[in-house]
Amino acid sequence: MENLTVLDHPMIQHKLSILRDEHTGTKQFRELISEIAMLMTYEATRDFPLADVEVKTPVAIAKCKQIAGKKTAIVPILRAGLGMVDGVLSIVPSAKVGHIGLYRDPDTLNPVEYYCKMPPDIKERDVIIVDPMLATGGSAAAAIQFIKGYTDHPIKLMCIIAAPEGVERVHREHPDVQIYVAALDEKLNEHGYIVPGLGDAGDRIFGTK
Ligand code: PRP
Ligand code: URA
Repeated sequence: MENLTVLDHPMIQHKLSILRDEHTGTKQFRELISEIAMLMTYEATRDFPLADVEVKTPVAIAKCKQIAGKKTAIVPILRAGLGMVDGVLSIVPSAKVGHIGLYRDPDTLNPVEYYCKMPPDIKERDVIIVDPMLATGGSAAAAIQFIKGYTDHPIKLMCIIAAPEGVERVHREHPDVQIYVAALDEKLNEHGYIVPGLGDAGDRIFGTK
């Protein structure tokens, strides 16, 4: 699928194996989510445009490149997406952060919106939506639809683990959105959990179970 990029760098794979482990505690889980998000951002920003600049070093003028004034907004899907924000900001420190609150109804698996706050200049910014889990794709597809109401700029979706069902749904409903994942897992189970996955990302980040 041409709009899916699997970021399987060895360091990402190594950290992901610890993240998945049921014995990994909340503190380490949180740290790993942030580190993986940082490494993924390094790759997901590879297409950022550059501009020529001249920098005076102590020795001479160096012809260099800098990011060409690109404006970015990071939008975590609450709650679990919050765990990825610090990692993304460590690579794109000037990004603004919008928040969208969605939870999955446990019976219907449909996303329910409960919060939204975007930066005032969101329509001038490219958007990176972050959420560790892309399961049925309902939450991500709803978040993308919502953000499309604010901006015509490109939207990227960055998730740590995806199920094929979620990737297909986002691709079907939003073929213009580039999806970045660290792993494409096998399937969903009957409760809509990713198999093998890592369990409930929000509960593991915030220690709520
Ligand atoms: C999880 C996850 C995604 C969503 C993925 O959130 O963080 O947002 O489920 O599932 P989907 O692709 O089937 O929509 P959850 O609803 O558990 O809320 P939480 O982050 O508050 O725990
Ligand atoms: N949400 C999670 O946190 N984990 C899954 O496996 C699916 C949805």
